[in-house]
This record gives sequence, C-alpha cells and structure tokens, in this order.
Amino acid sequence: MARSPRRRTAVLKVSSQGEPVAAIERAAAILRAGGLVAFPTETVYGLGADATNSAAVLGIFKAKGRPRSDPLIVHLAAMDHMPSVAGSVPPIAWKLARRFWPGPLTLILPRGEAISPVVTAGGDTVGVRVPAHPVALALLHTAGIPVAAPSANRFMHTSPTTAAHVLADLDSRIDCVLDGGPCAVGVESTVLDLTMQPPRVLRPGGVTLEALRTLLPDVQGPSDSTPRAAPPELVVRAPGQMERHYAPRARLVVFDGEREAMLEALVEEAQEATARGDRVGALVPDDEAEALAGLSVVAIRLGAGDLAEISRRLYAGLRALDEQRMDLILTHTFGRTGLGLALWDRLRRAAGGRLREV
Ligand code: TXA
Ligand code: MG
Repeated sequence: MARSPRRRTAVLKVSSQGEPVAAIERAAAILRAGGLVAFPTETVYGLGADATNSAAVLGIFKAKGRPRSDPLIVHLAAMDHMPSVAGSVPPIAWKLARRFWPGPLTLILPRGEAISPVVTAGGDTVGVRVPAHPVALALLHTAGIPVAAPSANRFMHTSPTTAAHVLADLDSRIDCVLDGGPCAVGVESTVLDLTMQPPRVLRPGGVTLEALRTLLPDVQGPSDSTPRAAPPELVVRAPGQMERHYAPRARLVVFDGEREAMLEALVEEAQEATARGDRVGALVPDDEAEALAGLSVVAIRLGAGDLAEISRRLYAGLRALDEQRMDLILTHTFGRTGLGLALWDRLRRAAGGRLREV
C-alpha cells in the first residue's frame, strides 16, 4: 500500500475481546492490501504485515529501522495452518502446539514456499506461533493470511505493552494500531528451535523452560554466553540475539546476586548517583521501594514479587522512567527459574549485555 510518510497512524480502539468487529475488519483489510498494522498479543504489541508479500514485509524493517538480517515470527490463526508456512512439521511440533498454543511459544521449523524470504532473512527456517490474545486471533482469522510481526518498537528499543508505547515509537510510520489495552504477559514469546537436535531455546520467554521440559526432557536452555563468544553455528541460528536490545534511553544498571546484596548495592549506587546530582529511577518490588524512601529516587513498583506481575510491568516501567528523563535506572534480576530466566535475559540485554555482579 503506497503511503505518505507524513500520514498519521489510525488508532482503532477495540475491547480486549476484539469489538467492534468493524475495527478488526478495517485493520484486516489494511493488512491484506499490504499495509502495516500494530496489534496486541498476550506478550507485547506486534507490528504486522502480510507474510506472503515481500514489499509489505520490507515495510516492517523500514518502519522499525531493523536490519534485514534479523528474521520475523509468522503469526497464525490456528495450528492447522502450520503446514501452509512450514516445509515440514515434525510430530513434536504438533505436540507442543497442542499443549502451548494459543500462547507465548514460537517454534522454529523448516521454511515453506509461501512465506516471503524477506520474513526469514533469506534463511531456510521460519518461526511460527499462534498468539493467545483475542484481538490478535480475530485479526488473523479475519485477514485470512499469515502475518509476520516483530515487536512494534524502534530497533533495539524497549518492547511495547500498550498502544501508547507503539505510537511513541512508530506514529506516522505505520498505517494503524489496534488499541486493545495492556498486554498480560509482558515479555516476548519463548523461541524454540526444532530444527536442531536436541531442540534449543534461542530466547527464553513466556513459556518457561521447566514447562517445555515436561514434553521435551532433553531441551537445551539458551546459550549463556554472548553471541561473540558463542559457537559460530549458534550465532547464525539465533540471529536476533544481540547483546544490546530492549534498551531504555537512560543508562541502566542491573544488579545480579543474592537478594539482600543486590538491594544493598542498589541503594548504595542510588545514594552516590543522587549525590552527584543525577536523576535516578529504580524498578523494584513494593517492599524494596520502602528501602529507597529516604532518597530522591523515582521508584517504580513491580508488585509483591510475583514473577508474572514483574514481567507484565517491566517494559512499561522502563518506558515511564525514560519519559521522566532519568539519567540512571537501577534494578536487579529475579532468579533464573520460571519467568525469572526471561527477565534475566531481557534485563541483561537492556543493560547492553552486562550485569553488575554482587
Ligand atoms: O512475543 C513475541 O514473540 C512478539 C509478538 C509480537 O509475537 N514478537 C517478537 O518478535 O518478539 P521480534 O521480532 O521482536 O523477536 C523475534 C525473535 C528475534 O530474536 C528473531 O531473531 C527470532 O525471534 N527469530 C525469528 N525467526 C527466526 C528464525 N527463523 N530462526 C531463528 N530465530 C528467529
Ligand atoms: Mg523485538
């Protein structure tokens, strides 16, 4: 769809269940015509285009400023559509799909012919998932096409969990955003490569490693090392796993270690930075916000410590502190079990690949 770069992005409000239907139909028509539509999924907002239309998919890379070497996930309305986008579907893919779809799991499969090579960055594999959000499912059903969609943020920036976040990054660069309210999971899908033996998690996410192990006991966890240090075949396998990603504009320091030690180091760093005159923000569970009460620190509360709630609030918290023009943002990791592993991965990358060990 030819569009002037200055045209404003249409904001279509929908309920979390995808009503009114007219809004979904309008967004679906834009997708079918080769346009760009941002839409809510249960993880983060995606920026969608027709996965069979190379020109449309190129528009995604252009709008985001994303390098064309980083492949996109194809979103499907139902698992039965897998054979139409994948070259072959192994039995384990069906088994995983039955257990975890619709949901935050992306399966890497051999690429099928129908998908534009722009989607797969010229590679011979394709990532597919059926998202769990009713708005995403209604859009996919109505459009009747596979939809390529990365997170709807500018390249390397924090992923969006509300329509306002999408507009902050992409207003006037995309045709439309379906505003269906905030996302429930808050971190992206788990990316699982089924073309490797044994299968490997390339990116931890909304479906935990522990949950995958119940069906895939030999699944490999994400590579702990940096892509630079990782074996070359893994760099090729996980092309988008850059060291700096999901990042706020402010300098971010993430402490890693025992809980008490992390909090102590965080408070100390906050004291030093505020004494220097820095504007300091912190992202911490409710009880830790108390420990910062005496300092002039803007503390964003992440809830009572439940990992699902922390995941849901994390990206919005980073963006809120950026909006308040902080010089420095302080936070820490939340273990490595369950959703803690995805949080650990995102926080480390948001901080440019480094954790402050305590
Ligand atoms: O939850 C999500 O996955 C969200 C929503 C919108 O579905 N999408 C998302 O897309 O996070 P994106 O593009 O921001 O991240 C997709 C990740 C990238 O790291 C990319 O490199 C990887 O998945 N990926 C996609 N296709 C791949 C493939 N064929 N092989 C290896 N990695 C792939
Ligand atoms: Mg992304």
